[in-house]
Amino acid sequence: MYDFKFDTTDKSALYRELTEAADALTAGEPDGIANMANVAALLWESLPELNWAGFYRAIEGELVLGPFQGRPACIRIPFGKGVCGAAAATLEPQCVADVHAFPGHIACDAASRSELVVPILVDGALVGVLDLDSPLPSRFDGEDLAGCVNLVQRIAACLGGMAKVVPQA
Ligand code: SME
Repeated sequence: MYDFKFDTTDKSALYRELTEAADALTAGEPDGIANMANVAALLWESLPELNWAGFYRAIEGELVLGPFQGRPACIRIPFGKGVCGAAAATLEPQCVADVHAFPGHIACDAASRSELVVPILVDGALVGVLDLDSPLPSRFDGEDLAGCVNLVQRIAACLGGMAKVVPQA
């Protein structure tokens, strides 16, 4: 069992500790799905005021739902559609203060008001995105953006890995 406890009052310290914890959780594990599942749970448990935390994976030119915490979500998102698709198409993080004002926003949960999406790049190739949603408008600021970008960069290789298929004897 992992039992991480973080002080959420100092945001930059929180992201430093979260990044260390995410690194410790994923280091040495080659299965990207397992690592996404643990990191989604870590962020969901540790970041206040979220209603969704998880991953979409880049598969054959579209985003496909990956491990997450929160309400069931749309499964496939074309590149360029919504906030996640914008991050995938531009390879730039998207920090959206008011999702209702974002053209093409995909409302998986009507409660969502702001959103932060960070593309995950391994050797320059997109492997997926990290998506955080909040019921509060303007929930995510520059520290959240920098903290999540840094966390994703640190563990990107572990998120993009696939489990090795071991042939049965
Ligand atoms: N709102 C996202 C869709 C994914 S859900 O928020 C989980 C978007 O516009 O891309």
